Amino acid sequence: MNDGDGTPAAAGRERRFGPLGTALVIIPTYNEAENIKAIVARVREAVPEAHVLVADDNSPDGTGELADELAAADDHVQVMHRKGKEGLGAAYLAGFRWGMEHGYGVLIEMDADGSHQPEELPRLLTALKGADLVLGSRWVPGGRVVNWPKSREFISRGGSMYSRIALDLPLRDITGGYRAFRRETLEGIGLEEVASQGYCFQVDLARRAIKAGYHVVEVPITFVERELGDSKMSRDILVEALWRVTTWGVGERVGKVLGRDKRPGDKSSGPAGTAEPAESAESAKVSDGKA
Ligand code: GDD
Ligand code: MN
Repeated sequence: MNDGDGTPAAAGRERRFGPLGTALVIIPTYNEAENIKAIVARVREAVPEAHVLVADDNSPDGTGELADELAAADDHVQVMHRKGKEGLGAAYLAGFRWGMEHGYGVLIEMDADGSHQPEELPRLLTALKGADLVLGSRWVPGGRVVNWPKSREFISRGGSMYSRIALDLPLRDITGGYRAFRRETLEGIGLEEVASQGYCFQVDLARRAIKAGYHVVEVPITFVERELGDSKMSRDILVEALWRVTTWGVGERVGKVLGRDKRPGDKSSGPAGTAEPAESAESAKVSDGKA
């Protein structure tokens, strides 16, 4: 990896990080009627200054209408109604785009089912003060999972291990979905090229952030399996993940052999541009970095 131009190792140590702007917690939903009110209430309580965007894929169980009721009663809550089920990745991409257009400085991913505890969010945000991206991590010391069947733990640990090796990533929990991004990070990783639909979306973004040289930090979390409603994990989601991760891994290796070390999101962006420590006064530039 070309050292000196914002490699993972260099990032973070020699950089100063600007202040965090307002945070937007994006909660993608598909049939989460039993969970949506509780999760939004917990976010509002745990991080009152943050705003919430529910990105609903026209859930047949009426999640979108319940979210509308919450939004009507609280100016910190918004709802994005999408036309149909298009996968977690597409919902997050739309949510990020909306958040960036509306000037948020921090974009957070959180599941609706209570697995990602809002009470842990302040710790993620504290870590983000010295990072470009924070991953809530189950597989670092201090992290854990409550109430998961062994089979699911096996898939998750295996998925992270496979991704770690195939993509050469220095991360423990690569598939997790509890994350905090600085907007600049999202602007620098080539979101418009992301095609991942299911949970491999998470692997895709982590990989892009690392390859672009961003400083990625894992913070231990306790992931609590949902009590209500059903997981949307499916065979198709697993197959997509396995297929894409393998393709990326092979592509990177072939690229290296051919001497083309092309990195995702490799335009003029990435933290390389901040090689001289960015003065924190750079703050409120609401760029129109729109796809
Ligand atoms: N809008 C939208 N569209 N939301 C979706 C879709 C979709 O197609 N599919 C899932 N979601 C929402 C769910 O409603 C929930 O809020 C969140 O995405 C996570 O879905 P779950 O079905 O609860 O995921 P999980 O518990 O099986 O998986 C968790 O672990 C995975 C592996 O570690 C999540 O945290 C995943 O992000 C993670 O990759
Ligand atoms: Mn879940």
